[in-house]
Amino acid sequence: MQVSPSLLSANFANLTPDIEMINRSEADLLHLDVMDGVFVPNISFGFPVMQDVSRICKKPLDVHLMIVEPQNWVSQVRDLNAEYMVFHQEACTHIHRTVQAIHNAGMKAGVSLCPATPITTLEDIIFDLDQVLLMSVNPGFGGQPFIYNTVEKVKRLRNMIDACGSKALINVDGGVNAETGRMLAEAGADILVAGSYVFKAADPEAAIRSLKF
Ligand code: DX5
Ligand code: ZN
Repeated sequence: MQVSPSLLSANFANLTPDIEMINRSEADLLHLDVMDGVFVPNISFGFPVMQDVSRICKKPLDVHLMIVEPQNWVSQVRDLNAEYMVFHQEACTHIHRTVQAIHNAGMKAGVSLCPATPITTLEDIIFDLDQVLLMSVNPGFGGQPFIYNTVEKVKRLRNMIDACGSKALINVDGGVNAETGRMLAEAGADILVAGSYVFKAADPEAAIRSLKF
C-alpha cells in the first residue's frame, strides 16, 4: 500500500517541520489539495505555496486539483515537478485531451470522482489513466466522516481496471484511518490519502506506518 498524507491538515503557519516529518516518514507521496472556492466551497492554497513546498519535499507530489477548468494549469503543475496531476471528472469537459496534455508534460494523469459520480463515466478513458482518485467524502474539507459505500465502489473499480489491463492505481481520499484504510486495502485500493488522521495524530510517523497494509 502506498500512503499519501494530505498537507491540508498540516500547520499552515509553519509548514517546514511537517514536511520534514513527511521526508523522514514511510510516506510514498505528498498529497496537495488545491481548492478554488468555485468547484468546492472552500479555498486552500495555490502555486506560490506549492512551489516552496516542492523545494523542500523529498517525496513525489500527488496534486489534487479541486478547481474548474483544470486543463489551464498543466504547465504550472509540471513546474512543481509533480508526479501526478489529478483533476475532477465533474470539472472538465475534455478529459481525454487533458490527460494527453498531462502526459505530454511528462506527468502521470489521474481523474477524481466525487462520491455520487459513477465509475462507469471512466470506462472509455480508464486505459489511459495512471490513477483514479475516489473521493470517500465530499471534496472541500478535511476531517469529514468516511462514506462507507466507497468500499464497494473500490471493488467495482478494481474489477474494471483489471478487466482491461489498465495500469491505473486506485487512490482513496477522505476519512481514511487505520480502520477504514484496512477495508479499502482489502477492497483493492493501491494508495491511501490521509490528512487529519496523520497530522492530528500524537505520532504522525506512526500513523503513516499504520496505513502501510
Ligand atoms: C478533501 C481533500 C482531502 C482531505 C482529506 O477535499 O481532498 O485530501 O485532505 O482529509 P481527511 O483525511 O482529514 O479526511
Ligand atoms: Zn485530496
